[in-house]
Amino acid sequence: MSKFHLIYVIWLVLSIRFCIVEVSASCCPHQFFRQSNRRFEQKTDRFWKFSEVDDRWIEVKLPCDLVPCVNSEGSKMEEEHELDEKRMNLDMVLPLRKRISLTKMSETSVWIIGESGCIYERFWNGLEWVIAPHDLPLSQGHAVAVFIISQKILALSESGNLYQMHVQIGETSHPVWIEFTHTLDQITDSDPILIKSGVVTDDRKRGYFCTKKGSLVELAEVEPPRWINHGQPGGANVAAITDVASTREVVYTISSTGDLYEYNSKSKPSWKRHIWQDKKAQVSSLIPSKGCTLHGLSADHSESLFLLTKEGTLVERRLHQRKWKWVVHGNPPHQNLTSITSSFRDESSETSISLFFTTSVGSVFEYQIPKQLGTSPNNQFPGGEWKSHQHPLHAKAARGKPGLPLQVGRILFALDDGRLAELHLSGQGGESAGPSLPQNFRRKTSSTTKYVWSILDAPASEGWNAEYCTDERGPRNCMTGIKDESKDSGITSSVTGRRKQSQEHHYYLSLGKGGELISPSEEEFNLPDDWISSNFRLRLMFEGKSFFLVTSDGMIFEHVCIESVWIWLKHESSTAMNGIVGNYNGSLFMVDTFGSVILREWSGNEIAWKNCSDMRKGRNVVVGGQPWDRLPGIARKRVTTEDSLFFVSKSGRLLQFTVYMRKFKWKDCKNPPNVKVASIVDQELFRENIIFVTGRNGRIYQYNKVNDLWHEHYQSQHLILSNFPGTVIRPLSKSLTGSIFMFSRDGGLVEYNWNTWNEWNWIEHGTPYKGVTFVGSPGPSFEGNQLLLIGSDGKVYLRYMDKNAWKWKDCGFPSLGDKNVDADREEEFNDEDDLIFKCDPKVRSTRPIPFSDDSAIFELRDGRLAEIQLVGEKEWVWSRIIGTPNSLCLQNYWITVASSSSS
Ligand SMILES: *[C@@H]1O[C@H](CO)[C@@H](O)[C@H](O)[C@H]1NC(C)=O
Ligand SMILES: *[C@@H]1O[C@H](CO)[C@@H](O)[C@H](O)[C@H]1NC(C)=O
Ligand SMILES: *[C@@H]1O[C@H](CO)[C@@H](O)[C@H](O)[C@H]1NC(C)=O
Repeated sequence: MSKFHLIYVIWLVLSIRFCIVEVSASCCPHQFFRQSNRRFEQKTDRFWKFSEVDDRWIEVKLPCDLVPCVNSEGSKMEEEHELDEKRMNLDMVLPLRKRISLTKMSETSVWIIGESGCIYERFWNGLEWVIAPHDLPLSQGHAVAVFIISQKILALSESGNLYQMHVQIGETSHPVWIEFTHTLDQITDSDPILIKSGVVTDDRKRGYFCTKKGSLVELAEVEPPRWINHGQPGGANVAAITDVASTREVVYTISSTGDLYEYNSKSKPSWKRHIWQDKKAQVSSLIPSKGCTLHGLSADHSESLFLLTKEGTLVERRLHQRKWKWVVHGNPPHQNLTSITSSFRDESSETSISLFFTTSVGSVFEYQIPKQLGTSPNNQFPGGEWKSHQHPLHAKAARGKPGLPLQVGRILFALDDGRLAELHLSGQGGESAGPSLPQNFRRKTSSTTKYVWSILDAPASEGWNAEYCTDERGPRNCMTGIKDESKDSGITSSVTGRRKQSQEHHYYLSLGKGGELISPSEEEFNLPDDWISSNFRLRLMFEGKSFFLVTSDGMIFEHVCIESVWIWLKHESSTAMNGIVGNYNGSLFMVDTFGSVILREWSGNEIAWKNCSDMRKGRNVVVGGQPWDRLPGIARKRVTTEDSLFFVSKSGRLLQFTVYMRKFKWKDCKNPPNVKVASIVDQELFRENIIFVTGRNGRIYQYNKVNDLWHEHYQSQHLILSNFPGTVIRPLSKSLTGSIFMFSRDGGLVEYNWNTWNEWNWIEHGTPYKGVTFVGSPGPSFEGNQLLLIGSDGKVYLRYMDKNAWKWKDCGFPSLGDKNVDADREEEFNDEDDLIFKCDPKVRSTRPIPFSDDSAIFELRDGRLAEIQLVGEKEWVWSRIIGTPNSLCLQNYWITVASSSSS
């Protein structure tokens, strides 16, 4: 019930918006205001007046009393209203995404390429839509298109090569991509041919491809491959194939100069150019992109090819009774069209035909063309009607990417943020609706059809939350979904175990591109001077074998076990260091006291230092980096060419430093609009390709590495987060379910949890006792359900999950009286009083590090370090104190454990 209720509310919101647009677009405002039965409704509180002195519009701060304004100055109101309308439509023009594409294989399968260049399939397993990954191997690069020809699946890589999917029959049938481009050798004896884009014929038997050099090639047969080179039009090239008209056996192409050509192998000459004979002013060059052919639109045997111009207007090339004609359909007010999508038609009941368009700012418009309109004289007024479907809440349709009609009344669009959205008739589509439509479904006249948006999640390759299908029996099986209500009955209570729908709109609040403008806010928190050293003084190098320590005077030491003896190794560096902010492939990234990023790496058998700040775009003062390098128990994510480390600059920007194969490159990812970044909460451990940060205003934001978008997350006004790194817990390596733990500014523990059924949730854990708050940042997590934290009283506290309930445990601090810690004192130190004066075994707020799967290292207030170990299931004991070059408490250099009693 509540699901329908929500859909209804969203429908209401959208339909109210449609009204606003329609009024401004089609009604004469005079009429609008004169009609006495219509109440004036204030839609904005911003008004402008035209200043003749300045020759520009100036915003009026306090609007005059609106009622007299309407009566006496109707025309002025009209202008102001129009201006406001324009301002609203002057949304940000979206960037053109390079790789996104949608391909329909069948009713039950859609192949999608995300902006990351990863290929995934949305497959209906009979119970729900599941997601299966089909990535090209790393060495073959990013995919840009998928073609299904004669039931063979071909993928096109960004570099211009084709790969064919083969299923290897073996123990497990495992699909692999095999190089297909070499078959193009049959039509070239010189350079290899590289493919740019392609179109498959309606019967799916042949494919036409546009090469990077601008010629047209045809894949006439796949098995065995047979290619035909059709060359290019005289004096022009082929920049895109716009459509293949199967009835006339011609291929329409557009050149890079924006002219339309047709190719017909049976005619002489085979290439023909369609010129603009009537020199219409608004008609100019065409966008090299996919068009759309409709038959019988203006007369029974007419053919209409719809195309877009570079200005974003719709034009039609119409063939009727052997005569060609251009018809200009224009565009909705203040909108530039960027892609055309045809829709499935319910022939029996339609009086008009609809085409759908995405605009440069990410909205979707429908153009309803009444059938048989060609009889109108001169075609001055083609008579189509524009209808806005806006875009899903907090998301925009990707610019220039055609949608994919699934069925009558269901169209899939790629969103600019990497997700998908379905525009569907209310109650007839969305995430949980399978491919078959109810038999009794009949589309009524188009004026009463209501479309709504459903957002569909994308997998982690795009930085989103959809999980891949599994080999196990159950609802999410890759081949056949099986209802499994006996298991997890509590969680998967809905029929398919799917999450609540329409909820996701609330979590991700869209923000503009990274902000240029930073307004100092009163509440803004300034980072303390020792911020970097207190957070990044310790860093794990090799699990259980070695870790690094930066001393308070900037020296670097490594604590390493050599032949079962623990020693401190001093590492020389030319400058004093502040902290170690990242670790990649055995190289450490440090920040020196001047804020430069210095890389320490192995070069052969030598240690080499590299100044990463001394590179293009690298001259930022860095104050923070990646909190953790990996999660214990979770396999390292696969290597990608986009592997990077992220840093925070002193000016509050997020910086990306690409490190894959030492192909170093800096990128400024900016900051969420108007907010400085305080620290990185998590880099890609919780979600691949996502960097969670806290703003200095105490709110959480995320940066998507794939599409450069910033999002804000819903967060109560009352919850202000501290500006420290967070800790991630992911209980199951195969599931994305998990939590990010942070501290609130008043020292309580806060959890931000995600699971497939309830999506995002904030949980406040508070503190173990009154009077104790948490200091520094959350410590490492273990076993997917345990978290170590430092209290203001110098004790370590454990937050752990016990039988589905969170509990606290006091782990204290290491003390000499502790039965577990054996003080192996050295002879030279006799002056007990002095020792006690300099020794303070309480735990300092320095961010601790995990040392192995079951131990962690903390810094003590006297500068020594102490290791705490997991014994049994949830029992943590202090196992040793490590004297450091940083401590005046030189009572011992290492103390072993009397572990026999406890282990
Ligand atoms: C639409 O196109 C015109 C002409 O190319 C351009 O001046 C205008 O800025 C564009 N507007 C949007 C919103 O893309
Ligand atoms: C590193 O490079 C930066 C920028 O060129 C420079 O200011 C800094 O002094 C260099 N640091 C070292 C240790 O060479
Ligand atoms: C990791 O380091 C090794 C040795 O220096 C190097 O050969 C390799 O290319 C590096 N791998 C990546 C992914 O950067």
